[in-house]
Amino acid sequence: MVNNKAQKNKGKKMKGIILAGGTGSRLWPLTAQTSKQMLPVGGVPMIFHPLNVLIKAGITDILVIVSPEHSGKFMNMLEPLLRSHGINILSGIQEVPAGLPEAFTIGAPFIGSDNVTLILGDNIFQDTNTITNAIRQFKVGGHVFAKEVEDPERFGVATVDNNNVVTNIVEKPEKPESNLAVTGAYIYDNEVIEAARKLKASDRGELEIVDLHNFYLKKGELQLSKLSGAWFDAGTKESLREVDAFAADNNFVDNFDPILVNALEKGFAHNKAMGKAQLLACKDVN
Ligand code: DAU
Repeated sequence: MVNNKAQKNKGKKMKGIILAGGTGSRLWPLTAQTSKQMLPVGGVPMIFHPLNVLIKAGITDILVIVSPEHSGKFMNMLEPLLRSHGINILSGIQEVPAGLPEAFTIGAPFIGSDNVTLILGDNIFQDTNTITNAIRQFKVGGHVFAKEVEDPERFGVATVDNNNVVTNIVEKPEKPESNLAVTGAYIYDNEVIEAARKLKASDRGELEIVDLHNFYLKKGELQLSKLSGAWFDAGTKESLREVDAFAADNNFVDNFDPILVNALEKGFAHNKAMGKAQLLACKDVN
């Protein structure tokens, strides 16, 4: 069955989505004038880190989903920077943060009949290789990435057997069965769109990503890879401070994909030249 599906799936492209909506309320007043995903991590706005994972995996079509008040800002920054490097950036709007699976319904026209990788805009990974290899090798079903943590009750929690096969996933359980947190990077085949459309809101009033994992788990099509290295969910002031320092100390930006390093260098040179030109123009006027 999985083999038949994999055959059908052959030749499909992989699209990328970064979900960068939400209110950033836990980071106020840092988020009073800008979005959380624009806050600095290791010398660049946070969103560059998930963007790097997608670009490093060879994905060239990327949809950035943002809240209405920040629409335009991400596009203005990313589109001119990446256009000439063969990366197409598109923007989508999520009116209210009604749950992560909305990424696939809002993104449906963008995804078309392709596969899709979703990365949460506030998730920063040191072990990008495990994710990018899985994206490149993806055939069918769903693929999630887990990391052992000390406070699993804050996350989606996976239980796996001795062969790393997922047996159970629960969202923020009071008594976690394991310490394996499911991180905010997900690869799915095209069936995720229909599955997301059929979801009902949970008791807390949101569509839950765990229901999509379970959709694939029930069909025996959910894979899990364990990540090495550090993983951060930069949702609080403490974690933001921690990841900012960690990313700087460990040269995350210097190790970005060459496309992104090059784009950033060019962008920096361009802005420096613009600044100089403005200064000269000002002097001429005076
Ligand atoms: O970070 C990994 C965790 O992310 C997973 O372990 C959980 O299974 C998953 O549900 C999610 O949990 P969080 O509690 O971290 O989700 P949160 O509501 O904080 O949203 C994560 C990011 O996605 C955040 O930057 C805001 C953004 N977001 C969230 C929702 C619900 C949106 O852009 N739209 C939304 O509708």
